[in-house]
Amino acid sequence: MARLLKVLGLAAGSLAPALVFFAVPAPAAAPDAGEAVFKAQCASCHSVTARGGSAVGPRLSGVVGRRAGTQPGFAYSPAMKGSGVTWTPDQLKRFLASPAQSMRGNRMPYAGLRDPKKLDALVDWLGKQK
Ligand code: HEC
Repeated sequence: MARLLKVLGLAAGSLAPALVFFAVPAPAAAPDAGEAVFKAQCASCHSVTARGGSAVGPRLSGVVGRRAGTQPGFAYSPAMKGSGVTWTPDQLKRFLASPAQSMRGNRMPYAGLRDPKKLDALVDWLGKQK
């Protein structure tokens, strides 16, 4: 028992600095949750600025409200070009949750984002990238 307490005491002691860290108020400009998802899962292939960033996939600034497959200069798959989809927030969520199933034959090599909270945050944030 004493040994157990000692182990627990040690663990609690080593947690203290972490607790202090989390108690510090978040900086005023906390990163947007959607932006964090974008950076982690999309930025390796997509950018949201005219210059710089990856060009493996089409640029995504202004994508909400745009017709699929119409970013000038990007070589889309015939499936994406001919999909007839307009990227409303709902269409984007359906596509991003499961790209291969929701649009057969498209060439986006991405397994899908299943977490509805992350999807909402991501699509909200994309809507602000004009
Ligand atoms: C490994 C590279 C890769 C990753 C990661 C990726 N994409 Fe893509 N994305 C592509 C490619 C390539 C296309 C073009 C597909 C086609 O033409 O069939 C595409 C197409 C799209 C389109 C259609 C755009 C248009 O102009 O019609 C959207 C929207 C999109 N991606 C969003 C995302 C989002 C959001 C993420 C992150 C959750 C993501 N993608 C992750 C490569 C990627």
